[in-house]
Amino acid sequence: MTRSDKEEYVLTPWEVSGNIDYDELVERFGTSRVDEELKQRIENIAGEVHFMLRRNIFYSHRDLKWILDQYEKGNKFALYTGRGPSGHTHVGHLMPWIFARWMQDKFGVDLYFQLTDDEKYLFNFDLEMEDTYSYAMENALDIIALGFDPEKTFIFADTDYIHTLYPLALKVAKRVNFSTVKAVFGFDNSANVGSIFYTSMQSAPCFLPSDREGRKVPVLIPCGIDQDAHFRVTRDVAETIGYHKPALLHNKLAPSLDGTGKMSASIPKTTIFTTDTPEDVDAKISEAFTGGRMSAKEQREKGGNPDICAVQNYRYYLFEEDDERVADIADRCRRGDLLCGECKGLLKEKIRSFLKKHQERRERARDRLEEFLLKD
Ligand code: TRP
Repeated sequence: MTRSDKEEYVLTPWEVSGNIDYDELVERFGTSRVDEELKQRIENIAGEVHFMLRRNIFYSHRDLKWILDQYEKGNKFALYTGRGPSGHTHVGHLMPWIFARWMQDKFGVDLYFQLTDDEKYLFNFDLEMEDTYSYAMENALDIIALGFDPEKTFIFADTDYIHTLYPLALKVAKRVNFSTVKAVFGFDNSANVGSIFYTSMQSAPCFLPSDREGRKVPVLIPCGIDQDAHFRVTRDVAETIGYHKPALLHNKLAPSLDGTGKMSASIPKTTIFTTDTPEDVDAKISEAFTGGRMSAKEQREKGGNPDICAVQNYRYYLFEEDDERVADIADRCRRGDLLCGECKGLLKEKIRSFLKKHQERRERARDRLEEFLLKD
């Protein structure tokens, strides 16, 4: 297939659409692939490889090798990730957080979690500051519900922690000019001045662990590959302001239920939120795009196509850790033994039981917010 045959796609920190070519992104951004050797090194330390690494959902990186070298020399890194609180959390958002939780557990490291209520206010004309702040606190419940260690986990909303973050953001801002952000993000003269400054805010937590600990702390950022643009800018200035460049580990974005592109909070019908009821889950999965045939009879005869199926994708990305089970379901589908109704039923059950537990933990987290939040 030549380039021109491929469907166009868009991927920036604020817009993702079309059929993303993840291989091309590695080339275009100049990142490195997570190869077997790296996975082996992680397994040697962690005792296992998380299924998201095994399946190349976390597939690209910058300086991960260096992070592991440092770790092996006894120089522990800190994890940093974040969330733009523009609404409730959906299960796709949980993907990198579940992975970060695993990393924290296996490597015994701190996690810094930034809630960018400022970003979502600046970039969404229909959201007020009270909205983005209250979503930040709601999203924090989802983070806590995943079981992060309160001794090692620091969550902050930018507007709550700005006194600490601002000097770090300024150090970055002074060294990034307007033409750079225009080139990196495609801003034009109509962009508001807050959005032009914003990358400095997302950069600040890369340097926070060093300031808090009083040593140069290596930082590893597990994040969607759409966020890479910000950190290319951060990495360009890091050393000039006296810190290590942050390392990155990129994940592919969780797919949507309608079979097109990524799960998006702006299309609620094709997205499962952590606050959804069992009935919501049933309704959404029932409507999901599958690789099924027009009729049950035809499907029994010719089999279905799990490779294009959103239900199978959900399983692969999030809801089935067992590789054999994923493969077995795909085989039964191809043979025409497993029809879409039954297959959807299996996924509904998985998601309902996941959400039941998650929602209980999420409610309990309301009383524990203070244990995790950093404020000035
Ligand atoms: N900009 C991110 C978003 O819109 C939020 C974010 C802030 C983030 N810091 C981060 C994401 C670090 C990944 C890693 O969701």
